[in-house]
Amino acid sequence: MSIVPAMKTQSPQTSLEQPAASDLRLFEPLEAPTLRQRFSCLITNPFKNFLIPASRLRRLMNRSRSPMIAESLARPGGWRAMEYVYDNVEPTDWLDRQALRDNPLSLAARNRRQIVTRLLTGLIVRYSAESQVTILGVGAGPGNHVRSAILASGLSPDRIRAYLMDLDDDAFEFGRKQAAKVGLAGCIRFLQGDARHIRDVLPDVSAQIVKLIGLIEYLTDAQLVDLLQSLRGVMAPGGSLVTHGFNDVYGIRRFLARVFNLRHQRRSLAQLTAILESTGFKIVQTVPEPTGIHPIVVAER
Ligand SMILES: C[S@@+](CC[C@H](N)C(=O)[O-])C[C@H]1O[C@@H](n2cnc3c(N)ncnc32)[C@H](O)[C@@H]1O
Repeated sequence: MSIVPAMKTQSPQTSLEQPAASDLRLFEPLEAPTLRQRFSCLITNPFKNFLIPASRLRRLMNRSRSPMIAESLARPGGWRAMEYVYDNVEPTDWLDRQALRDNPLSLAARNRRQIVTRLLTGLIVRYSAESQVTILGVGAGPGNHVRSAILASGLSPDRIRAYLMDLDDDAFEFGRKQAAKVGLAGCIRFLQGDARHIRDVLPDVSAQIVKLIGLIEYLTDAQLVDLLQSLRGVMAPGGSLVTHGFNDVYGIRRFLARVFNLRHQRRSLAQLTAILESTGFKIVQTVPEPTGIHPIVVAER
């Protein structure tokens, strides 16, 4: 079920080497596209989605100095491109600005990171009243959401056990460094494995919290059902799953598929709810994300 064609090339290292500044930026205002950004999507979409040949668009992207675009071309849907989106440092050129600041999907990813981290923080505090908290990040990359939430919870790391799982281990070294910088190295464990077979990777774990973010938008409904069934097997009764849908509100999905080979699956809140309920989860909270792209849900096992 690997969601993306993996290509092992040297990645740009700019902001990825910096401290986890985004840990400190969690309570900034959420972002919504301006009228200009919405209008710009309307005007440019026919060109990006249909009229300009994909090969020409790719050549244009290749000419940009944007680390985020370079990363997306090399490893579409990978964790490093997400890091550039979260870091949101001063754009290197016009295309970088488009990708980081004007693309509604980047705004949505930053909003999602903040909303999810706040939800996880609340869940960690809530479950900690009963016992030590076990939290599982699936398709976790370097584990930003979980690390930031543990930090924001203010709990002592010895009251938390976090398992961060990813098919690919190439984010782990960076993730471990980021965790160590904020004193959380001891409570976060990185594990390589396929989430579809999570029980094999974590035979004895019973997690109260599961974070499934940045992965299911690339899965078909059938793959998502398989994954949810597998995750239920490692969750404590009454445990909470935090995940999200994908609405193509701004019509950017086709461009991403043509140029970056990224295949986003549309999934509205209603469709996500139906799938979660069909696999035995009960929706307990839904949170709108200001761009409208990622409706976020908390569901209980
Ligand atoms: C777009 S990144 C998201 C990283 C992080 N969750 C975030 O939202 O910033 C998607 C991650 O899912 C991982 N992944 C893809 N298929 C997976 C699978 N079957 N099991 C576990 N991880 C998987 C990829 O390796 C990648 O690191």
